[in-house]
Amino acid sequence: MSAFSLKAPALLFLFTGASATSSSWDRSLFSPTGSPEVPSPDARGLGWKQAFQHADEFISQLTLEEKVGLVSGTEGPCVGNIAPIDRLNFTGICIQNGPLALEQGTYSSVFPAGITIAATWDKDIAFKHGHNLGSEFREKGSQVVLGPVAGPLGRSPFGGRNWEGFSPDPYLTGDLFTSTIEGIQSVGVQACAKHFIGNEQETQRQPSTNDDGTTIESVSSNIDDRTLHELYLWPFQQAVKAGVASVMCSYNRINQTYGCQNSQTLNGILKTELGFQGYVMADWGATHSGSRAVNAGEDMDMPGTDQLSPVYWHQSLVEAVKNGSVPSSRLDDMCRRVMTPFFHLKQDKNFPAIDPSEKDLNALLFSSPEEYRYNYTFGSQANVDVRKNHGKAIREAGAAGVVLLKNNNSTLPLKSPRRIGVFGNDAGDLTNGMSYFTFNGIQNYEYGVLATGGGSGSGLFTYIVSPLEAIKQKADFKKNLVQYVLNNSAIIEPDSPYLAALQPSPPDVCLVFLKSWATESMDRESLHSDWNGDTVVESIAAMCPNTVVITHSNGVNVMPWADNPNVTAILAAHLPGQEVGNSIVDVLWGDVNPSGHLPYTIAHSEESYSFAPITNSTALENTKDPKAWQSDFKEEVLIDYRHFDYYNKNVAYEFGFGLSYTTFSINEKIAVHQKFTGRLPQSPPNATIIPGGNPHLWETLYEISATVVNEGQVAGFAVPQLYLSLPRGSSNEHGFVAKRVLRGFEKVHLNPGESKDVAFKLTRRDISNWDTAKQQWIVPKGKIRAHVGLSSRDFHCSATFTPY
Ligand SMILES: *[C@@H]1O[C@H](CO)[C@@H](O)[C@H](O)[C@H]1NC(C)=O
Ligand SMILES: *[C@@H]1O[C@H](CO)[C@@H](O)[C@H](O)[C@H]1NC(C)=O
Ligand SMILES: *[C@@H]1O[C@H](CO)[C@@H](O)[C@H](O)[C@H]1NC(C)=O
Ligand SMILES: *[C@@H]1O[C@H](CO)[C@@H](O)[C@H](O)[C@H]1NC(C)=O
Ligand SMILES: *[C@@H]1O[C@H](CO)[C@@H](O)[C@H](O)[C@H]1NC(C)=O
Ligand SMILES: *[C@@H]1O[C@H](CO)[C@@H](O)[C@H](O)[C@H]1NC(C)=O
Ligand SMILES: *[C@@H]1O[C@H](CO)[C@@H](O)[C@H](O)[C@H]1NC(C)=O
Ligand SMILES: *[C@@H]1O[C@H](CO)[C@@H](O)[C@H](O)[C@H]1NC(C)=O
Ligand SMILES: *[C@@H]1O[C@H](CO)[C@@H](O)[C@H](O)[C@H]1NC(C)=O
Ligand SMILES: *[C@@H]1O[C@H](CO)[C@@H](O)[C@H](O)[C@H]1NC(C)=O
Repeated sequence: MSAFSLKAPALLFLFTGASATSSSWDRSLFSPTGSPEVPSPDARGLGWKQAFQHADEFISQLTLEEKVGLVSGTEGPCVGNIAPIDRLNFTGICIQNGPLALEQGTYSSVFPAGITIAATWDKDIAFKHGHNLGSEFREKGSQVVLGPVAGPLGRSPFGGRNWEGFSPDPYLTGDLFTSTIEGIQSVGVQACAKHFIGNEQETQRQPSTNDDGTTIESVSSNIDDRTLHELYLWPFQQAVKAGVASVMCSYNRINQTYGCQNSQTLNGILKTELGFQGYVMADWGATHSGSRAVNAGEDMDMPGTDQLSPVYWHQSLVEAVKNGSVPSSRLDDMCRRVMTPFFHLKQDKNFPAIDPSEKDLNALLFSSPEEYRYNYTFGSQANVDVRKNHGKAIREAGAAGVVLLKNNNSTLPLKSPRRIGVFGNDAGDLTNGMSYFTFNGIQNYEYGVLATGGGSGSGLFTYIVSPLEAIKQKADFKKNLVQYVLNNSAIIEPDSPYLAALQPSPPDVCLVFLKSWATESMDRESLHSDWNGDTVVESIAAMCPNTVVITHSNGVNVMPWADNPNVTAILAAHLPGQEVGNSIVDVLWGDVNPSGHLPYTIAHSEESYSFAPITNSTALENTKDPKAWQSDFKEEVLIDYRHFDYYNKNVAYEFGFGLSYTTFSINEKIAVHQKFTGRLPQSPPNATIIPGGNPHLWETLYEISATVVNEGQVAGFAVPQLYLSLPRGSSNEHGFVAKRVLRGFEKVHLNPGESKDVAFKLTRRDISNWDTAKQQWIVPKGKIRAHVGLSSRDFHCSATFTPY
C-alpha cells in the first residue's frame, strides 16, 4: 500500500534513528485462521482476596439456574438488570448509562463529557467528576456506571462517540480514564470501562441484513499487535491496574472475530496478559453466541432480552452447562467475577434502593414493559434529588475544559464592554425539550446550546444555563447593551437586514457561538461547524472587527476563518454539561484564567485526517459479501499528532496547545534522575501477573524534573508536558515508530512571578515498546530524548538518557 512505501525524509528520524520499513498490507494476516482459541483463565481474586472468598461462599449456595441468572440480563427497572435472589437477600444489580449523567435520572446532574475532562488535562478534576457522578448513581440505587470510555480512543475525528471518551493520545486518556474510575469506585459504585476494543467507528457497528436477506457482519477492526498494545489497549491496561470492576466488550469485530467472542482479546490479552479479575459485560446486543462467547471470555450478557438480538444465554446456557459445552467451572468463574467487585465495594451493605422513578423512565426511554418479572426493591421515595452541590464542580470543570486558541491584541478577558453582540444558534436556551437523546427522534435540533452529544451517553437536564442567559447577567444588561441574533439563516442572508437592525453598530465585541453535533450510532459527516457555522463567522466578522468565536463541539472542528484578522479570539469550549453558560462566561470575563489544552490536533482541512478513514463506501450499501466491512488500521500508531509530526505537516493548532491570560515558560534546566541501580534488564523480570500485567511495568525507573514559571501579570494554571522520542525496538523492524509520544503532564497553579518544579515519573512501560515476538514490553537500546514544553510542538528544554 502506498501509505507504507512512503519514504520519509531523513530529518524525521533525527531522534529515533530508525527507518520505516513496513511491508504492504496483507489482510489475510488479520484473520483468525490457524490461531487457536485461548482458554479462559479463572479469576483468583488478586487484589480482592476477601471479597473473592465472600463471592465463592455466595455462589456455593446457588442452583445452576440462579448462577445463569447472575450472568444473564433480564427485564427490569434499569438499562441493564441482574435479577434479585430473594432467598439470599441479594437485591440484584442495577446497571445504568452512562459516562456523563445518570441517563435515566430525574433530579440528577448532567456533567461534562469526556472530551471536556480531557481538555482540562487535570487528574483531580477527572477524579472529582467520577466521584460526583458515582455518588448520584449510588443515591439512585444503581451499582454500575456504564463508563468511562477509552474506546473509541479517537482514531478518526469523524468517530461519532469520540466525545464520550477522552483523547486520541493513549497516555492522556489512560490517566484521566483511570482517575475517573477511581473516583466512581471511591463511592462504592462499579465502573465499567468501555468499549473493548477497536471500537473506532459507529458505521456498521452492528450486523445488518441486505435486500436478499444475507447477514452482513459488523465492521472488522484489523489491528496489528503492536498498535493494539501501544495505542488502544494502553488505557485499559491502566484501568485494570486501578481495579476496574468490569470491562465492556464491543460491537465491532477485531481481526474478523466479534468483540464479545474473541478469545484472543478477552481470555488472552485482558484476562491473561493483564490479569483482569472482574467481569466482561457485553455491549447491548453485542453477544452473538452462547457457549462460544462464554468460552471466549464474555462473563455477562446484556440486556439478555430479545429487544436487540436473539437470547443466546439464559435457558440455553443452562443446557450448555448440562451437556458440557460450557464447563460448570467456567460458569462458577463468571459468577465469582461478577460478585467479587460487588462485595469488594461493599454493595451488599447499606446500598440505597432503586429510585422508583427509574422504572418509569426506563419504560419511556427504552419502551420496556412496565411489568417486571422479578421483584426489585424500590426506595420509598420517587425522584430523590441527588444533585447536592455538583453544579459548582460542573461549572469549574466546564471552564477548565475551555481551550483558548487565539487571543489577538488581548481581546480577552473582556474589559467591561458597553455593547455586546451575541450571535449564533448555539447561544440561546434549549427550544426542543431538556435532552439531546437520539431516542424518540430528538437530535441535532437547530436552536439551543449544545452541552452534550447524543445517544446513551447523554442525559436529561434538570436545568441548563445558556450562554446568552449567563452573558446577560454578567454584562449587567440593564446598564449595557446585550443584543443578539440567534437565527443562523438570518445572520447569513446577504446584507442581512437582521444584522443591520442591530444598532448602534458594530458592537464593542461580537460573541459568536457555534456547535457541532455528534451522537452514538452514526459517525460525523463533517468537521465543519453545523448550521453554516463558517458562514456565520464570516458574516459577523465582516461587520465586526472584534469577533470572538466560541465552539461547543464534540471534538475536532476545522476553522477556515481562524486567520481572519477580525476574529480576535477563538475558544473551543467542548461539551461542558448543565452549567455551559456560566463556564464560558467565567472564562470570557476572566474570573477563570483559561487553562484547557487541546486533547487532539486541529488540522487545516478535513482531508488532513484521511490517514485513518471511517470505513464507509457506497459500494457497501447493498453488498452481498458478509465480510465486506473491513477497517484496516494501516496507519498503525500514527494517529493524531503522531501522524502530523511523523510527516512534518503544518497544523492549525497542535495537540497540547492552549493559551492563557498569562504567559508561562519552562526553565532550560531539566534534570533526569535515575531511580534504579545496577544494570536495567531490558525486559521486565518474570513475576506473577497482577491486575495490570507484570508488576515491574509499573515501577518508576526515571524521574524528569523541570521548572515552570509564570511570567505574566495574573495567576493561572500551566500544563507542562513531557514527550519522549523512543528508539525503535531491536526486534520491531517493521512498522512506524512515532517521532514523539506524550509520557507526562501536570497541572500547576502559579501566581505571577512564581515558579514551581514539576517531576514526571517514568515507569518501565513508559519507556518501552511492545515487542510482538517476545510478547513483552521491551526497553529499546539507545538514547531516549525527553522534551518538556507547553504543547506537542512548543518545547522549552530537552535531555537524553540511555537506559539500555
Ligand atoms: C436475609 O435477611 C433477613 C432479615 O434481615 C435475615 O433474617 C436472614 O437471615 C437473611 N438471609 C440470608 C440468607 O442472609
Ligand atoms: C490481528 O492480526 C494481526 C496481524 O496478524 C496480529 O498482529 C494481531 O495480534 C491480531 N490481533 C488479534 C487480537 O487477533
Ligand atoms: C448443548 O446445548 C447448547 C444449548 O442448548 C446447544 O447449542 C449445543 O448444541 C448442545 N451441545 C451438545 C453437544 O449437545
Ligand atoms: C416475587 O415475589 C413473590 C412474592 O413475594 C414470590 O412468590 C416470587 O417468587 C418472587 N419472584 C422471583 C422471581 O423472585
Ligand atoms: C494574532 O494571533 C496570531 C495567531 O494566534 C499571532 O500569530 C499574531 O501575532 C497575533 N497578532 C497580534 C497583534 O496579537
Ligand atoms: C492590533 O493591534 C495593532 C497595534 O496596536 C493594530 O495595528 C491592529 O489593528 C490591532 N488589530 C486588531 C484586530 O484589533
Ligand atoms: C430564521 O431565518 C430564516 C431566514 O431569514 C427564516 O426563514 C426562518 O423562518 C427563521 N427561523 C425562525 C425560527 O425564526
Ligand atoms: C456513509 O455513506 C452513506 C452512503 O453513501 C452516506 O449517506 C453517509 O452519510 C456516510 N456516512 C458518513 C459518516 O460519512
Ligand atoms: C473587518 O471589519 C471591518 C469593519 O470594521 C471591515 O471593513 C472588514 O472588511 C472586515 N474584514 C474582514 C476580513 O472581514
Ligand atoms: C521468564 O519466563 C519465560 C517464559 O516462561 C522464560 O522463557 C524465561 O527464561 C524466564 N526468564 C527468567 C529470567 O527467569
